[in-house]
Amino acid sequence: MPGYGAGKTILCGEHFVVHGEQALVVSLPLRTRVDVVPFDGSFIIDKRPKHPDFVLSKQQLYEGMAEAIANLFGVGKQYSFVLSGDLPVTSGGIGASAAAAVGITRALQEVVGVPLSSDDIMTIALAGERVIHGNPSGIDTTAAANEGILLFQKKESGLFTSSVISASVLCHPGPELDEGRSGVGSNQLELPLLLVDSQKVTTTKETVAEVARFKDQQPAVWEQIIKTYRDILAGQVDALQRGSLEQLGKLFCQNHELLMQLNLSCCHVERVRDFAQQLGALGSKMTGTCRGGLVLVLGRDLEHVMQMARTFDQCGFFTVNTSIESVLNGNVSSVENILF
Ligand code: MEV
Repeated sequence: MPGYGAGKTILCGEHFVVHGEQALVVSLPLRTRVDVVPFDGSFIIDKRPKHPDFVLSKQQLYEGMAEAIANLFGVGKQYSFVLSGDLPVTSGGIGASAAAAVGITRALQEVVGVPLSSDDIMTIALAGERVIHGNPSGIDTTAAANEGILLFQKKESGLFTSSVISASVLCHPGPELDEGRSGVGSNQLELPLLLVDSQKVTTTKETVAEVARFKDQQPAVWEQIIKTYRDILAGQVDALQRGSLEQLGKLFCQNHELLMQLNLSCCHVERVRDFAQQLGALGSKMTGTCRGGLVLVLGRDLEHVMQMARTFDQCGFFTVNTSIESVLNGNVSSVENILF
């Protein structure tokens, strides 16, 4: 049996989440599939979709991540892991390594036959993620192992919590849905989201360390930024609950400007945002690691997202349509049962 892990996009809270703040993350209905085969000299056999310009620059780090997870299962070099599925590899921000870590953990659980709780899976996957990202908050692995829009917070102890503010997301339009996966009821929220790749590769370890230095060196400025951040987060939760895309778009822009104060943007990201604004986007922001990687763009509706995606694609950008519909107040465990 293969193991699966989902990609993610952070609506609000990248970097702040590392320092204990709450964050809003969407678990994407795009997943990495992991098949276990006999060890053939390297841990990772990478068949994931990716933009032709990308080479897997993190190959060695992925090897280390897979080895760390295999060691936790006590299987050493017995198996290699074939990565495939519909989650594309981008220049950063889609949670590709966390999706792979969760997929490898789930696939190994099947092979070894150890029953693991959902928390165990996230803990093991996070140990693997640390090999690549240094000191991640756990937001990516949590999104990779769950479904829906999650309000996530890391706990002091190093453990983490997440509560679901809505669940049951589906790509629209997008890949064929699995059977039983379209259980979207009448209480729907349509989030017309587009991810545009800025084509600048990012490094989480470095940017997380830089933000930690900023916090240490400028504590008063940091406090002010955190205060503003909390208002933005509360506003986003409210916008989602009321289904107000206009408000959400404005808050995306405010969130982006706040991240700019931490010196986390770059010309590649700003170019995408300018273009999105010209195309009538309701708002946009860097998402994930920042300083490159993906830009999250909010459209007026799904058709608008399709139009923007076509224009970006024609201009040589790599886009991922992540528009979702979600059922407010859904139940995550029932959704997990359907999916995994
Ligand atoms: C990366 O997707 C999000 C960061 O906040 C790092 C983390 O939380 O692990 C930059």
